Order: sequence, then C-alpha cells, then structure tokens
Amino acid sequence: MSPSETSDPWTVSRMIAWAADDFRSKGSDSPRLDAELLLGRILDKDRVALIMEAGRPLNDDELRAFKQLVVRRRRGEPIAYILGQREFYGHVFRVDKNVLVPRPDTEILVGLALKETQKNDQFGLALDLCTGSGCVAVSFALERPNWRVTATDLSAGALGVARANAERLGASWSLNFREGSLFECIAPGTKFDVIVSNPPYIPSGEIAELKADIKDFEPRIALDGGPKGFDLVDVIIQQAPNFLAPGGLLALEIGAGQAPHTASLMRAQGFVDTASHADYGHIERVVTGRIAERDA
Ligand SMILES: C[S@@+](CC[C@H](N)C(=O)[O-])C[C@H]1O[C@@H](n2cnc3c(N)ncnc32)[C@H](O)[C@@H]1O
Repeated sequence: MSPSETSDPWTVSRMIAWAADDFRSKGSDSPRLDAELLLGRILDKDRVALIMEAGRPLNDDELRAFKQLVVRRRRGEPIAYILGQREFYGHVFRVDKNVLVPRPDTEILVGLALKETQKNDQFGLALDLCTGSGCVAVSFALERPNWRVTATDLSAGALGVARANAERLGASWSLNFREGSLFECIAPGTKFDVIVSNPPYIPSGEIAELKADIKDFEPRIALDGGPKGFDLVDVIIQQAPNFLAPGGLLALEIGAGQAPHTASLMRAQGFVDTASHADYGHIERVVTGRIAERDA
C-alpha cells in the first residue's frame, strides 16, 4: 500500500518497508538496504539508528525529500550516485556520473598489489591505468605511503573525481595524475614495479543487455571494451613490458570468461608466473603476470 492510501503515521519503518517493496518490484538486488541508505541520508542517521527510531513519524519536509530520492532510485539511478559516495577498501570515495561506481571485486586488485609490495614497502613505483574514481590508486597509496603512484585516465571528468578523492583521503602527496590513453601519457623509459588496471572490458554488443542502473547511468567509456571486450586489455598487455621493471607485476581485472585469453596473451608477450584470481562470486576476475628478472 502506498503511503497516501493509509491514515497511519508515516513512520521510519513504514517508509522503509514501502520504498523497499517499490525497489524490489523494479528489480533492485538490495531493496531494503537501498531504502535504509536513502532514508538514512535524509534523517542523517545510520542503519542502526533507523532501527532504534523505527516508530518515529516523518515530518513533511523529510517525507518530501525522501520521496524525491525514491523517485531517482525507482528510475534506476545507482544508490552510489544518489548518495554521491561508495565505500571501497575501508575508505569512502566520492563518486558521480563521470566515474564507474567502485565494485567490491576490484578490491582484489588492491590486495594483490599490496601482497606483491610487502617485501619492499620502503619505496617503489606503481601505476594504475584507467583509475576512474581513483579507488585502487588511492587505497594502495594509503597503505604504501613511501611509494609513488601514477594514476591515468582518458576522461578529464574522472580524473577530477580521482584527484578530489586523493586530496580528501590524504593521499595526494604520493600520487601523480595523468590524462591520456593508457601508456600514452607515461614518459618512455619509466619503469614501474607494479602496474594494475581495471580497464573497460565489456564487449560492446553486451552493454545493451546490462541492468538499467549500469547501462543507463554509468559512463560508457568505463564499460565498453570493444567488439570482444579486449581492446584495452590487449594493448595493456602488449605495452606493459616496456614500462615494467625486471620482476615487475601486471595485475589486470577482466570479465567472466576472459581469463584464458588474457593469461595466454600475457605468456605470448613474455610474462611468466601467470595466474588467475577468483572474485567473491568464484569468477576468475584478475589475471597477474610477471616480467622475468634479467639473468645476472
Ligand atoms: C572500468 S572503469 C575502472 C575505474 C576504476 N579503476 C575502478 O576500478 O572503479 C575504466 C576506466 O577507464 C577509463 N578509460 C577508458 N578508456 C581509456 C583509455 N583508452 N585510456 C585510459 N583510461 C581509459 C574510463 O574513463 C574509466 O574511468
């Protein structure tokens, strides 16, 4: 029942239940969480506080503001864009329509880069290609304060968001941002110890089949990987050997079913120790490879 069809007070719990039912009918994967996050934003309360205040009636201003957010979510707009933020690797990143919403599975890239650099946490050079919101580069930089991290993106809008996130989270002093396509904005001869990337990898023809909150709201430039999804992946693997120090690691996030091609192209380009790493849903999500150490 809609709130306008009852004379009962529009309490916190009733509004959450109503909005959750609505979002469920529109296909949200997390309808109750969506409703709680939106109402929490209006009332400036976390989810526990909402439970404690379940019986509190909403005033007119609160109702009006909440309904406006419900309408945006109902049209498919991702919660992260409505709230303007998303948590990633324990940090809150600001996001807007210029950047992909950071995904939990991408935290694997950060974990692999940190594991790789455990043995040398004093100094090194890392590169994050296709940085988007900066979630990977900033999370890594915060854990490895002595490292220099370069983060690149083709989108000026995305770089603006990434710079602001680095500034706000206190990582900007160890980050360089560069605008350009993949390695084009990196000085020839620069050698990184680690290169990570979550490039666009969805085959162009599959974008129309994605859920509305992705295909209608997230930037196409962040999704579209060309006819087979490998346009950027292939270029990164072909060019990375020129920018990796001996023994350096390349870690690439890829889509479901793309690991065999990615690993085999890495081997063809001279990478050794190639390995696939599964995400939380048991999909091979990241492929790593290493440039061989030179013989002494
Ligand atoms: C899948 S998003 C990843 C964003 C972020 N690293 C993350 O994991 O949430 C891909 C990013 O690649 C950028 N991009 C697309 N084509 C590019 C290119 N040719 N060179 C550099 N960046 C590119 C997009 O602007 C987008 O920010």
